Amino acid sequence: MSCSRITSSVYLLTLASLLQTAFGAEPLFRTCSNTGNFSAGSPYEANLKQLTEYLSNQAPPSWFGLRSIGQNPNQAYGLALCRGDVRSADCKTCVVEAGNEIRKRCPYKKGAIIWYDYCLLKHSNMEFFGKIDNQIAIYLWNPNNASGEMEVYGAVKIYGLTQCTQDLSSSDCKKCLDGIIEQLPRCGDKKEGGRVIGPSCNFRFERYRFVNT
Ligand SMILES: *[C@@H]1O[C@H](CO)[C@@H](O)[C@H](O)[C@H]1NC(C)=O
Ligand SMILES: *[C@@H]1O[C@H](CO)[C@@H](O)[C@H](O)[C@H]1NC(C)=O
Repeated sequence: MSCSRITSSVYLLTLASLLQTAFGAEPLFRTCSNTGNFSAGSPYEANLKQLTEYLSNQAPPSWFGLRSIGQNPNQAYGLALCRGDVRSADCKTCVVEAGNEIRKRCPYKKGAIIWYDYCLLKHSNMEFFGKIDNQIAIYLWNPNNASGEMEVYGAVKIYGLTQCTQDLSSSDCKKCLDGIIEQLPRCGDKKEGGRVIGPSCNFRFERYRFVNT
């Protein structure tokens, strides 16, 4: 992936940091897939609605929800992943918000993914459980440059967080993370922090402590 999107990405990250506690937060990104369209009042729409509601209850206590609802050809598959340090209540708020927003931003699409700072929500008519989804990775950089190699390899603390959707095996989780982390030196080695977020795993590093411990 090229690094030409750094400017707009920096904007996104800054915005996300400002809004990270307030809902009404803007999504970091969304992607609508072209695996099919559904119509208003269709069985798929009803399944999707039920699925989102289920995930918004399932995800908060364990930061992860996975479920399919309905029967073919109207079966809807979904997952919700909250950042591992997010409180249950914030996880739920995020997934609910993601469900509302994904419908507005990908209207009548059977498949879509939306990312927030606190959570991601994905749904599809195609079964995807346990598979690495690397169709897209979004790179967000902290706009502050690191002041040199010493900073990175010396005594300065770097805070990092990696996460995979819990339906992946640990070897696939590692494979997914290797795939996205591999991109970092090309694009972000002089930055103080950054994030790579995909549908199946994500990686974040910062010079400051960003997890709510
Ligand atoms: C879904 O609808 C869009 C137009 O809104 C169309 O371009 C696309 O081909 C449709 N996709 C499928 C799989 O039918
Ligand atoms: C980071 O470095 C680049 C090139 O060295 C410079 O153009 C930019 O202004 C710097 N950004 C900050 C926030 O210092």
